[in-house]
Amino acid sequence: MPGWKTVVFFSIQALMLAFFLNQDPKMAAKPPSSTKPWADGPCALITTPQYATNKTDIFTLGATHMAHIHNAILRGYNSIYQQAPHVTDEDKPEFIGYAQTWFRFVKSHHDDEEQELFPQVEEVVGTSGIWDATHKEHEAFLTGLSNTNDYLAQLAEAFDFDGFELRRIMSTFQEPFAAHFHSEIKTIVSFADLPTAPEPSSVKATQAAAVFKSWGKKTVMKTGSTEGVPFLLLNLDKTYEEGKWAAWPPMPAPVRWGLVNVGGAYHWGRWKFASCDSSGMPRELYALQFPENKK
Ligand SMILES: *[C@@H]1O[C@H](CO)[C@@H](O)[C@H](O)[C@H]1NC(C)=O
Repeated sequence: MPGWKTVVFFSIQALMLAFFLNQDPKMAAKPPSSTKPWADGPCALITTPQYATNKTDIFTLGATHMAHIHNAILRGYNSIYQQAPHVTDEDKPEFIGYAQTWFRFVKSHHDDEEQELFPQVEEVVGTSGIWDATHKEHEAFLTGLSNTNDYLAQLAEAFDFDGFELRRIMSTFQEPFAAHFHSEIKTIVSFADLPTAPEPSSVKATQAAAVFKSWGKKTVMKTGSTEGVPFLLLNLDKTYEEGKWAAWPPMPAPVRWGLVNVGGAYHWGRWKFASCDSSGMPRELYALQFPENKK
């Protein structure tokens, strides 16, 4: 249980953050401008299977939930890639923190898939080797992903951060990275066609749905209530696909508010680089208001 000092600290921080988020015009909700790049590129976002087909089988639903998480990861990549060269010296420490939060989120997501989700799904689906292609996709970007974090971690001072160098490293694995996050969604959808796939409405189908659901919740919470959780919520665009996912992930509004504002208060300086505001509206990328830092 947190002590009262922690509670008071977080409450004050939360109030300050709420004030800041509401008052600072740079932080105000703003749809992506047509002239500046936003977090929907260079990596294209994923069209969710449910939006594309209206199917409601367990694999379409599981893949759709996964697509929401993957889109937040892609918006994270894009927000870092787009802003990196524009970050001012003053903002560098927080930007490095934001980029490292993204890295840890992706790494944790990957490890959790390999260790927990993939074996469980394989068991409930009843065919082995269904993740073989996915393993290979993972391997194709893991080194580049680690290089990104290594670059950030070895900086003697935040001042030494070079946004063009970060971009260069990210470019080295961008293609297999983006391809994987799209491909895995198609892979999950395709499990519905396996001869061993659970029959709709069967006990096995209920089990399979439960695997995706409990994994999804656990994997996000594991990334940390002051790190991965605010990162995810601030990179979920509630206007995406005509606003069909505005209420995802399902939770009462005050809980969501607390996760963003109280959980987010601890590292509040980082979140100005996120692609969406505290209510989930897309906003202009913060650092793009500054010129590029040509050395
Ligand atoms: C899915 O359903 C919605 C609402 O009924 C409809 O507007 C949309 O066109 C459908 N999409 C497809 C691909 O069938």
